[in-house]
Amino acid sequence: MEQTNIPHVLFLPFPVQGHIRPMMKLAELLNQAGSQVTFINTDHNHNRLMSNADLKTSSFHDRSPKFLFRSIPVENAPSLLNIKELLDTLQIVARPAFRQLLISIISDQCRPTCIIADGIMSFVAIDVAEELGIPVITFRTISASCTWTYFHLSKLVETGDAPIPDGNLDKSITCIPGYENVLRSRDLPGFCRVEKPENSFLKFFMRETSAMTRASALILNTVHEIEAPVISRLNSIFTKIYTIGPVHALYKSRISQSDSSNGAGLWKEDRSCMTWLNCQPLRSVIYVSFGSLVCLTRDQVLEFWHGLVNSGKPFLWVVRPDLIVGESGIDPMELEMVTKERGFIVSWAPQEEVLAHPAVGGFLTHSGWNSTLESINAGVPMICWPELADQQVNSRCVSEVWKIGFDMKDTCDRSTVEKLVRDLMDSNKREEIMKSTDEFARLAADSVKEGGSSYTNLEKLIKDIRSMSP
Ligand code: UDX
Repeated sequence: MEQTNIPHVLFLPFPVQGHIRPMMKLAELLNQAGSQVTFINTDHNHNRLMSNADLKTSSFHDRSPKFLFRSIPVENAPSLLNIKELLDTLQIVARPAFRQLLISIISDQCRPTCIIADGIMSFVAIDVAEELGIPVITFRTISASCTWTYFHLSKLVETGDAPIPDGNLDKSITCIPGYENVLRSRDLPGFCRVEKPENSFLKFFMRETSAMTRASALILNTVHEIEAPVISRLNSIFTKIYTIGPVHALYKSRISQSDSSNGAGLWKEDRSCMTWLNCQPLRSVIYVSFGSLVCLTRDQVLEFWHGLVNSGKPFLWVVRPDLIVGESGIDPMELEMVTKERGFIVSWAPQEEVLAHPAVGGFLTHSGWNSTLESINAGVPMICWPELADQQVNSRCVSEVWKIGFDMKDTCDRSTVEKLVRDLMDSNKREEIMKSTDEFARLAADSVKEGGSSYTNLEKLIKDIRSMSP
């Protein structure tokens, strides 16, 4: 390949669904704006993306010399059960593989202008990039609120608030500026609950958050107007912050579907639920999904299922093949048979489309950041049931700061599920919540319009990357 003065941006996502998808959307936006892009996956995820993609429209093949896919040899299938294993493998394999790949790209006369590395892939990217003299921009795919919380993990350890001692989950957390009256122990990132001394996740996130600061700028998939106070606090760490969220909405407004990455999904979408949704009354359906990593026990599934059925509301539930853990599993088909009248179960849904469907009136979610932003963008209020990492912080913001949903963290019984579904779907409480939900949807929509904050920040990012080119 020949060296040109077209910018060449290399993307390195953390290898799980919730990180790959927003990165891929940004990669396509930069590619559309004239940059050459190289997108790096693990072998395992690359093969999964390829097998799920629509071969006619997909960009998962090197569709042009300006958009290339490369992979590094990591074979783990990510799920909550083996995420530690994935991290261990990455720490051994990924850095040398990435270095080798980068050297071969450079010797191919295609030196990257910059690397956009996931905020939790600094251990792979930063040293190598510094050694080879390539600037790094870090893309943290979680909320600004949670990014700020992660920057206080060391402080939380110092004050004895993390790991959370003695299971006291109701203690107020006072050492995070701006969140003094918001967070309790139970709202801290999920890995703060792991007992000492084997808290390797806490250590990992502390290290990665500190390493991120070696990058020249920070990209966040958020809407400036929604998280403005905490973004200005983050400005004390990063002088340059590009908020470009919701990146899926920015992407939709600028890239035609026929030219798109077909969802960047690790699971194959089952579109049969769209036909079912078409037959449901306006705003009547509660959509239920726990994202790509959260797992449920058999008992938890049954509590959710009874609560949903008893609420009397139609529901659409994503039951991934690896969602249910434990010895005596449940066959989703059995649930579906009993639920047939009111519920519909799929193994993976076209979620953005589902949330935008007029029949959907609420979202029971694990509060992953992509799901939260997609729900905000679609103007759908939430019931939050967080389990890991950033999800606890997000769900607290949804209920207490933004007031666009309810937080049912740490409870999982059928009567709570039933009550919250009824409250969310048709009560006076819904009216209150819908006021802020509608306002947030408007802020998200405005941000991706020409002149809006995310639109303008993307333009700035494009310009700044161009100015790095020789
Ligand atoms: C992970 C972490 O769990 C999450 O906390 C973090 O914020 C991002 O990384 P994940 O669990 O997959 O992500 O949740 P989320 O961030 O919500 O991302 C899930 C993505 O998969 C969303 O873009 C959603 O639209 C998509 N999805 C989910 C589907 O397309 N179909 C489905 O059926 C379910």
